[in-house]
Amino acid sequence: MDNILEIRGLSKTFRAGFWLRKVRALRDVSLTVRENEIYGFLGPNGAGKTTTIKTILGLIFPDSGKITIMGKDYRDISTRRYIGYAPEQPYFYEYLTAYEFMKFYGSLFSIPSSELKRRIPMLLDMVGLGGKESLQLRKFSKGMLQRIGLAQALINDPKFLILDEPMSGLDPIGRREIRDLILALKKSGKTVFFSTHILSDVEMICDKVAIIIEGEIRKEASLSELLSIDYNEVEVVFKGGNKSIKDDLKKIGLLMKDIDDTCYMLVSKSDISKTVDVIRLGGGDILSIIPKRRTLEDIFIKEINC
Ligand SMILES: Nc1ncnc2c1ncn2[C@@H]1O[C@H](COP(=O)(O)OP(=O)(O)OP(=O)(O)O)[C@@H](O)[C@H]1O
Ligand SMILES: [Mg+2]
Repeated sequence: MDNILEIRGLSKTFRAGFWLRKVRALRDVSLTVRENEIYGFLGPNGAGKTTTIKTILGLIFPDSGKITIMGKDYRDISTRRYIGYAPEQPYFYEYLTAYEFMKFYGSLFSIPSSELKRRIPMLLDMVGLGGKESLQLRKFSKGMLQRIGLAQALINDPKFLILDEPMSGLDPIGRREIRDLILALKKSGKTVFFSTHILSDVEMICDKVAIIIEGEIRKEASLSELLSIDYNEVEVVFKGGNKSIKDDLKKIGLLMKDIDDTCYMLVSKSDISKTVDVIRLGGGDILSIIPKRRTLEDIFIKEINC
């Protein structure tokens, strides 16, 4: 599989305020997005997500670093054809109707109007705005604007989508719809890079995740790698058995719950055999033994605190 996006050693310093204080927005950022991946760019407010995205798009100039899009330098104008971008805070011409808005973006890519006539209703339908063609954008809710921003990013049928916080401002149902849409885009062969500070959005759909904090990439790995590394504890669930089982088990691990004769224990990996023996000898039935994996939240909070 090819790399769609490669960023190497990207740094950017802003000078802000009256005293032109230095803000190091990006510090030696490197990341790689492969073809047909859903890539989650996760970080708290002010971490540098939008700055990274704007730099990829050539809207901000970096102090140093290298960006390659499909093997070409990002400043090569021909790369634009393959990219769809939905900004975090899009500017909408609010007196335009949904159709006119889409047509405007279509014309920027020189898409013939006969093709736009076919494509616009299809895209509006896809983002859940079917039938809203003639509604003015000033009458759109925040969630509807978010959706049309996405439809706009798809107007040129791009291979690679860059979405800055595509789910912000949406209610739980709206978030789910956008997640499903991103999954559908992947299925149709596209690559999606999106930023967010919401962990569950990443956990549910991403193949790969980068965690950016204070302008620095703290982790970049596949989601399964991130969640499965170094687990030390297992949850043992069992039922029944004699009274002394629990007393014996309390010496080994932590009794978490005891509901309707079903017990949940947390024991360390090295004590699994000992725990199983105690339960079996005491006449209990083991229902499950599950490694207690870290959640993305555990990882995220740990990275923020170090
Ligand atoms: N044009 C600018 N001038 C000065 N400082 C800036 C500028 N743009 C961004 N910054 C600073 O750079 C840092 C990174 O900002 P950025 O907008 O990239 O963060 P973000 O991760 O997108 O945050 P959010 O989740 O709030 O959108 C912040 O400290 C911000 O104040
Ligand atoms: Mg941002």
